[in-house]
Amino acid sequence: MEHAEPALAVSDLNVEIVGENGAFPVVSEMSLSVRPGETVCLVGESGCGKSMTALSLLRLLPDSARVASGSIRIHGEDFLAMDQRRVEDFRGDQIAMIFQEPLTALNPVLTIGEQIAESVRQHRKVGKREAFARAVKCLELVQMPDPERRARQYPHELSGGMRQRAMIALALACEPKIIIADEPTTALDVTVQAQILGLIADLQKRLGTAQILITHDLGVVAEIADRVIVMYAGRRVEECSVYELFDNPLHPYTIGLMGAVPHRAGGIVSARLTDIPGTVPPLWDLPKGCAFAPRCPGASARCLEERPPFIEKTPGHFAACWEHDNG
Ligand SMILES: Nc1ncnc2c1ncn2[C@@H]1O[C@H](COP(=O)(O)OP(=O)(O)OP(=O)(O)O)[C@@H](O)[C@H]1O
Ligand code: SF4
Ligand SMILES: [Mg+2]
Repeated sequence: MEHAEPALAVSDLNVEIVGENGAFPVVSEMSLSVRPGETVCLVGESGCGKSMTALSLLRLLPDSARVASGSIRIHGEDFLAMDQRRVEDFRGDQIAMIFQEPLTALNPVLTIGEQIAESVRQHRKVGKREAFARAVKCLELVQMPDPERRARQYPHELSGGMRQRAMIALALACEPKIIIADEPTTALDVTVQAQILGLIADLQKRLGTAQILITHDLGVVAEIADRVIVMYAGRRVEECSVYELFDNPLHPYTIGLMGAVPHRAGGIVSARLTDIPGTVPPLWDLPKGCAFAPRCPGASARCLEERPPFIEKTPGHFAACWEHDNG
């Protein structure tokens, strides 16, 4: 696996929000790569930049945000330099996103069957009838009840859980090589969640799909992640294999998030990240040194003055903390 070419490679990505008082960073110095068949989980508290990272990977940032610098390569091709037409070709076929909020992804004026079929026709040479049949099949795959009938309904006619399944069916319809899933199963009950994640895992096994999954659920992380990236205030603070995350977390923020969660071998079923005392500093007014210092039990004078670099502490295990300066 180690030598496989990454499906997605992000290097030194900086995303900023352009506000009334100028621009401020929401994602800073983000680098990550995902190989075919691999699942990387992105975790961190609300507002730490997970969705902004995900949206930038599809060039779907809101108008208020922009990529200031960095590169995104999809199967070696420079995604940021692509013209709009090629981006449209890539979306759905090469890379697809499952959103946190299904209504963002669904078109209110088309039935869900029509929109899935449209996406299929955009990327595959198939007729209307065949594309619609494929749409129904996809809805069946995500265990939509009565898929034939639901395919003929509009998003507003469906319940929240059904809308989420419709969106997942839309994202998976063309069997994309890279899936970015932003809390894809939050509105679903635990059983359906497991089914959907299982479905993505099947696709992954069959097609070698690379996946980035944003989740608040450590049970899901333990179950399906190969590697984990922990974000705080728009930056990576720790990155390691899922085993290292549970056995040997290094960063005080990660340790805080893991809270009372038992060992990986302890049979975690579903466990939300723990709340850490204190709040995330505003991104436009970050402290000079380590952004976590105001909340860190081990902060020293150096932590307040200098930002710790994100470096490899032990082989394959990266963190940004002065505490582990010597590995
Ligand atoms: N459309 C927007 N315009 C301006 N600022 C935004 C917009 N969307 C998000 N932000 C800001 O960008 C920062 C990062 O937000 P982001 O949505 O990436 O967080 P997140 O890690 O996905 O959080 P959550 O776990 O709540 O989904 C936050 O400070 C947020 O307030
Ligand atoms: S650098 Fe200092 S303040 Fe920041 S996480 Fe490490 S010990 Fe805590
Ligand atoms: Mg988010």
